[in-house]
Amino acid sequence: MTAIPYAKDVASGIISRHDARPEMLVQILHEFTEHFSWIPEDAIRQLAEELNLSRADVHGVVTFYHDFRTAPPGKQVIKICQAEACQAMGSADLTAHAEAVLGMKMNESSEDLTLEPIYCLGNCACSPSIMVDGDVFGRVDPTRFDQIVATAGERE
Ligand code: FES
Repeated sequence: MTAIPYAKDVASGIISRHDARPEMLVQILHEFTEHFSWIPEDAIRQLAEELNLSRADVHGVVTFYHDFRTAPPGKQVIKICQAEACQAMGSADLTAHAEAVLGMKMNESSEDLTLEPIYCLGNCACSPSIMVDGDVFGRVDPTRFDQIVATAGERE
């Protein structure tokens, strides 16, 4: 995933489409994430200004939801489902395996890679599930995880 450089005018356009209504903050943050792939400090400042909220209010919402990143993502984004059905089928062990082989903890990023939790991919019947660069995989055990990650670049 490539982070798009933050552009104040693009951000203003998104805010305007929601009539700069403070109650639309979460939806606006989702659109920022779709466009820029993360929420930089400049975005928090601009949102506070244009929605007439405090920076602390905006920052609080950004950090409350798992969907919003406060750092740019790596080129590859791996999400491991942590919701109930996947937990029951071993997502904690899978997460520990992923952290060990990738050399990073959940919610960490490098230039090449981001590892994140996600809370249900709608693939509960095939738990545990993961998402790699937008593709969903089910019944993922450590061996299959390694295969999926190793071949991720070839699928592009
Ligand atoms: S709980 Fe993991 S896909 Fe639904």
